[in-house]
Amino acid sequence: MDVLSRPLIDRTLPLLAEGYAWLPNRMRDAPGPVVRTRIMGRPALALRGPEAVRFFYDEQNVHRHRAIPEPVLATLFGHGAVHTLDGPAHRVRKSLFLPLLEPGRITGLAEHVGAAWDDAVPGWARRGSVVLFDEASTVLTTGVHQWAGLPVGDAGAEATARDMIAMVDGFATAGPRHLRARRARARQEERLGRLVRGVRSGEVPAEPDSVLGLVCRHRDADGEPLDEKTAAVELLNVVRPTTAVAWFVAFAAHALHRRPELRTRLADGDPAFTAAFTHEVRRFYPFVPFLAGLAARDLFWRGQWIPAGGLVVLDVYGQNHDESLWGDPYAFRPQRFLERPVGRDELIPQGGGDPAANHRCPGEGMTLGVLEALAGRLARMEYTVPEQNLSIPLNRVPTRPHSGVLLAGVRPAAG
Ligand code: HEM
Repeated sequence: MDVLSRPLIDRTLPLLAEGYAWLPNRMRDAPGPVVRTRIMGRPALALRGPEAVRFFYDEQNVHRHRAIPEPVLATLFGHGAVHTLDGPAHRVRKSLFLPLLEPGRITGLAEHVGAAWDDAVPGWARRGSVVLFDEASTVLTTGVHQWAGLPVGDAGAEATARDMIAMVDGFATAGPRHLRARRARARQEERLGRLVRGVRSGEVPAEPDSVLGLVCRHRDADGEPLDEKTAAVELLNVVRPTTAVAWFVAFAAHALHRRPELRTRLADGDPAFTAAFTHEVRRFYPFVPFLAGLAARDLFWRGQWIPAGGLVVLDVYGQNHDESLWGDPYAFRPQRFLERPVGRDELIPQGGGDPAANHRCPGEGMTLGVLEALAGRLARMEYTVPEQNLSIPLNRVPTRPHSGVLLAGVRPAAG
């Protein structure tokens, strides 16, 4: 029986059980960097590598409309989000996010988040110990709200941060984590929808150039403003992933604990090394497992076929740990980013392709700017890491150090 006519057994359950390791494990057994399988009731073709990235991001090949399952929309992205659009509708909506690539805005965000961290540290010092993941999420929520011109909400920054984290934490599961994520999204869409209504009616002021002002004024490809719910969804598509940088902050602390010799260069603020460190955190640690779209037509890739409507899956975690690209992928080695320029479609923790034209994350510069600001502060701060469970289970999506990284004896940086 040839490979095309062999019935494919649905692999959704192994995927859920193995998490990040599932696709890389399948790839290891395959003759090339491509795997044919079946997930969520559909035939699927999984690929990796810079050329595969260009194939995946070509709209002639892969569409996003109807590709994202309802449980993911109802938690992570929001119904009607930019992630779900194709063609002109996507380009016009994406233009809303392109100002976020401007260096001046990125610096502004890093300053707000850095100031929120500096304000929070004395409070951490007064407590016996803090969970860094939780504290970082509050700092990030505070900073991004101030920067975007948004009030943090009556419930306060801590509760708002918990909702942002819940939306990310619960998208890939069933059960209580998922229900928490749905409730968090409903609450935050309601809050921000009300805010948009207030701005448009003139009751609430908004700086025209702020993210809030841009979203309230934006017109889609049909010339219409976003309805309140969609405006809230897109505001959340800025605030939620910025808060999610807490995952990378916890990973950065994990890396500094395991490799204390890296701390001095980071604390010194050497910009090239700091950038290399943040790239390595995003490459090495597991966050986005893979991305998926629907085949726009019958497709062939490296001799494998996928029918129109089948799933095309980009193996993000696998590519970021591909030996042929990185040599020693399971070593945490920031230096690799100082040794050679890394291609646009090689390092893809936030998607590949061109952020202006494709679905690549428009928040990559923001992520780097914020993570550089916080990783430097972390390296300069005094603390101890008590006995705790720092393991990072690969079968949990999204995963993080089990303890959230408990820090004790925090003392602000001297000077
Ligand atoms: C899209 C990851 C931070 C806003 C994406 C995609 C990934 C990603 C994997 C999908 C790319 C694709 O579908 O091809 C991350 C990670 C982040 C992060 C790991 C760090 C925690 C941010 C930030 C923002 C942001 C700070 C703030 C603006 C978005 C938006 C999209 C997106 C609006 C949809 C783009 C589109 O569909 O055209 N991100 N992101 N992300 N990200 Fe991020």
